[in-house]
Amino acid sequence: MSHSPATPSNTATQRLLKAARMLFAISAMAGTLAAQAAPRTEPKPDWSTHDMPSQKGRIVLVTGGTSGMGYEDALALTRAGAEVIIAARNAERGREAIANIKQAVPEARVQFETLANLQSVRDLANRLQGRLPRLDVLINNAAIMSPPVRGVSADGYEMQLATNYLGHFALTGLLMPLLRKSDDGRVVSLSSIAAGRAILNFDDLQAERHYDPFAAYSQSKLAILKWSIELQQRSDAAGWGIRSIAAHPGVAVTELIARGPGLDSQFGKQWAVERDRYHSAAQGALPTLYAGTALEAVGGAYYGPTGDNEKRGPLGFAKMPPAAADRSNSATLWQLSERLTGVTYR
Ligand SMILES: NC(=O)c1ccc[n+]([C@@H]2O[C@H](COP(=O)([O-])OP(=O)(O)OC[C@H]3O[C@@H](n4cnc5c(N)ncnc54)[C@H](OP(=O)(O)O)[C@@H]3O)[C@@H](O)[C@H]2O)c1
Repeated sequence: MSHSPATPSNTATQRLLKAARMLFAISAMAGTLAAQAAPRTEPKPDWSTHDMPSQKGRIVLVTGGTSGMGYEDALALTRAGAEVIIAARNAERGREAIANIKQAVPEARVQFETLANLQSVRDLANRLQGRLPRLDVLINNAAIMSPPVRGVSADGYEMQLATNYLGHFALTGLLMPLLRKSDDGRVVSLSSIAAGRAILNFDDLQAERHYDPFAAYSQSKLAILKWSIELQQRSDAAGWGIRSIAAHPGVAVTELIARGPGLDSQFGKQWAVERDRYHSAAQGALPTLYAGTALEAVGGAYYGPTGDNEKRGPLGFAKMPPAAADRSNSATLWQLSERLTGVTYR
């Protein structure tokens, strides 16, 4: 698949947007150093894709963009003019996603790339390094939830930890040189309300001794949230110049349950009763789209819906679980992730 370089912004509006992005990026990065103390701009509660700044000239990679929120991210971003790369496991579903996006947005610039295990993460990063001038936004969205039986990735790691967290740790580290070439590089990582109930079980991180499907999912979502905060801290300290922002959709109707615990499970049956109350995938994508595009989105922050115990409703800052904000074991998680993936950030 060949890359046609993103068109340089020539119009006065695009130059202005670029300058505004740089200004916001600089102030947002400086802001994260004192993020806890400084007042932060609340998102407009009814923020929608209509508020999204033009994404012309921006290059975005969305993991897991073949269904659910990732698909909606890709659709909205191509509609706003971004060049989008969808990376997921299943090439057939990839082709369908691309066809659907092109039908909705005939001028869409969208491609599919295969992503599954750590070797495919390395291969993808190598291909992108070879052909992209930079990467503006990486959306770490791919996930599986609560498969009833403990699965193991090709690399030998518990499947949810591998897919939802370790793969994204590796992908982000390997793409950091490309993200650093952007004047407003962003990493947006998907967590979940489930992270609020999780613990990082360093004694049995891979659930080898005891596998509880939902505890393993929650742990993976806590890990990615904690790492997202740590990534911002490390970027500020090392001058990588990126914004790392976490988001969650509340509860949204997607394929996550059907492809995880299954619609016949107790979880699935409960879900079926309640599903009319929840967000559509397009509504669930808004916190991510805000984090990835809004000029005022804050590095180190966590966005999500603010109603009904954060399950749905207007956009705002999400409640940060104490276990995610606690930095006492952040370095331990980072070092372990480096060891398990073999990826070091530079
Ligand atoms: N839905 C909710 O209520 C909810 C709540 C909280 C958080 N979230 C989070 O939102 C994000 C999106 O989930 P969703 O609800 O939209 O689920 P979804 O419809 O099941 O989409 C998940 C995506 O992840 C991809 N994927 C799975 N394993 C992969 C792997 N090993 N490598 C690459 N791609 C892989 C799938 O692609 P394939 O086509 O390759 O299978 C699919 O595109 C996830 O991070 C999830 O944890 C969802």
